[in-house]
Amino acid sequence: MSIQYQVENRLFTLNTAHTTYQMKADRLGVLLHLYYGPKVSGNLDYLLTYADRGFSVNPADAENDRTYSLDTLPQEYPSLGTGDFRATGLILRNPDGSECCDPRYVSHEIRKGKYALEGLPAVFADADQAETLEILLEDAVSHVQVRLLYGVLEASDIITRSVRITNAGEGRICVEKAASACLDFLSGDYDLISLYGRHTMERNVQRVPVNHGNFTIGSRRGTSSHQYNPAVILASRDATEDAGVCCGMVFVYSGGFLCESEKDQFGMTRLLMGLQSEGLHYPLSPGQSLTVPETILSCSGQGLGQLSRQFHACIRDHLCRGEYSHTFRPVLVNSWEAQYFDVNAESICRLAEQAAQLGIDMVVMDDGWFGKRDDDNSGLGDWVVNEQKLGCSLDELTRRVNALGVRFGLGVEPEMVSEDSDLFRAHPDWALRIPGRRPVRGRNQLVLDFSRAEVRDHVFQQICSVLDRAHVEYLKWDMNRSLAELYSAETVCGKVAYDYVLGVYDFLEKLIQRYPNLLLEGCSGGGGRFDAGMLYYSPQIWCSDNTDAIDRLRIQYGTSFFYPMSTLAAHVTAVPNHQTGRSTRLHTRFVAAMSGAFGYELDLGKLTPGEKEEIRQQIRQYRDYAPLVQNGSYYRLTDPFRDVCAAWQINSRDTSRALVSVVMLEIHGNMPAAYLRLRGLEPEAVYEDAATGRRYSGSALMEAGLPLPLEMGEYLAYQMELNRI
Ligand code: GLA
Repeated sequence: MSIQYQVENRLFTLNTAHTTYQMKADRLGVLLHLYYGPKVSGNLDYLLTYADRGFSVNPADAENDRTYSLDTLPQEYPSLGTGDFRATGLILRNPDGSECCDPRYVSHEIRKGKYALEGLPAVFADADQAETLEILLEDAVSHVQVRLLYGVLEASDIITRSVRITNAGEGRICVEKAASACLDFLSGDYDLISLYGRHTMERNVQRVPVNHGNFTIGSRRGTSSHQYNPAVILASRDATEDAGVCCGMVFVYSGGFLCESEKDQFGMTRLLMGLQSEGLHYPLSPGQSLTVPETILSCSGQGLGQLSRQFHACIRDHLCRGEYSHTFRPVLVNSWEAQYFDVNAESICRLAEQAAQLGIDMVVMDDGWFGKRDDDNSGLGDWVVNEQKLGCSLDELTRRVNALGVRFGLGVEPEMVSEDSDLFRAHPDWALRIPGRRPVRGRNQLVLDFSRAEVRDHVFQQICSVLDRAHVEYLKWDMNRSLAELYSAETVCGKVAYDYVLGVYDFLEKLIQRYPNLLLEGCSGGGGRFDAGMLYYSPQIWCSDNTDAIDRLRIQYGTSFFYPMSTLAAHVTAVPNHQTGRSTRLHTRFVAAMSGAFGYELDLGKLTPGEKEEIRQQIRQYRDYAPLVQNGSYYRLTDPFRDVCAAWQINSRDTSRALVSVVMLEIHGNMPAAYLRLRGLEPEAVYEDAATGRRYSGSALMEAGLPLPLEMGEYLAYQMELNRI
């Protein structure tokens, strides 16, 4: 039993293989958080201290006990209006306008299996892999019910949390803020690791001390965003890749989010993850509920690398679905950087012919094939094949491509509409915009109101009629602007942001149910919606619109803190690179791209015979290494933001095989040799370098390391395959 309840102390203990999470309903029914960290045993409520603290208020039912204050106790789900003045997890507006909810313990239930969330993505597990704890809290005055849901995946060291808020009272209430997870750490000094960035430079890593005051990251863009990713790590100050305690949160949601950390007046640290509260005014009439999207928690006592591997395994095995979640993904060539909007049947067939010669499995016609779409100013919303531009029907095109032995994929952007489109001319009110104001544009396009079923249904029908008439085996779901005007003619403003995201999920769910064999790739101007929510529907996401190999190394490094390599779509593109103008060798571009869901995105016709031969060889190599990339254990060996090289290692789960990849980032005169210490091997075992036959002990590779070649040239890349003897 991973979830235990001790009746006499009303104590809940959630154990995973290596961690413990503990909380208790105290004498007043307040749910107090006691501990989350490496595995411990026993009742930890001795950790709580009580003292009469000035200006920390006391609840009425504490009577004359001035030492009891919610301002100073660690809480499981803090709420505004209870006398806790720290960053809060829940703000509810009551029918009388007051903002207060005081949820106290009523009952709980422990059951086998992992809970699911209606309409929302969530971690799943077999009945014997997980347990669920549901704790019911209720406000005695308003009768608002708060259900805290916990999923415990014992072997995976994963705990999930979600919250369901139900109006069981009489008047209409409004949810103004809602987190799905809160962690209070009674003691310790921590750093917060988060990912920040921008379009074409997503997921840089920031590590800052958690000091007094509230530090927040989040997104107000209606999507999870390029700028901040909804995933963070609270690490003890001394935590490194291999050592130290660290706990992470990954929000399983693709809309606006808010993550807050705060060190309080007594040195306690709070971490919260939930819905973006700005603009959230979610009304609940009596009987109605709101589900706060799930947060995945994990904790490691062995540093950041181990924490990342726990998240990787959870996302790969318990969140990504469909036949491609664990099987080989086709090596594809995408038309975007090869042809941009200038696609037609001839150019696509030419690309497919060249692809076939090189051993590429699939050609993807990205943008420009539908409606009137010769640039990015028109056509979105008209999901009708432009046969005039293509020169034939899509069916004929896919037949011609398939006849070459090449599979076919397509790019779409279903949530968007151009003002210059038939859809917009027919339904101008289907776009999100504020009446009486001119719409805010992004890439000269507007956003369709996906909170409305009739809007989704229309787009769904159009896209199905394309997919039903041709043999399309892959679909790239793109989304190319931020949501600025969260106003819907059909619903209350404060609901739209959330209902929009649930509308996207509803569409995606219908799509994967109808086309279970379709490989979906998520995308939002590259990695603007690279989140665990989207990974429930698409097992891979276009990692960034920046395909420069060197920038990609940093983007992929940041992404690797939470998301498995199998989810990162990465392509070899032309040089000079279209985003940076930088030139790197073909081998370097391959080494950077092959650590993810691999493909090409360039005019294959411009390659020299030598490059073609190299690409044939790359693809053979990728096929060999794909099981490692997709299902292996990933180790960061260096920090490409600081070190002379970017280096990483992927081990097979049984550690019998390892692939080490290195790209040199710096070159200087008379360079000192750089040494690379490998990780995760068996110290006692002997490993053989597949290229040279040279043998090393696992312990030597990990403790003494390997010297990197001293060779002249910029951004040289190396790979080494090691096999256990
Ligand atoms: C976005 C995507 C690109 C490409 C273009 C097409 O920028 O991230 O990969 O699909 O749109 O317009």
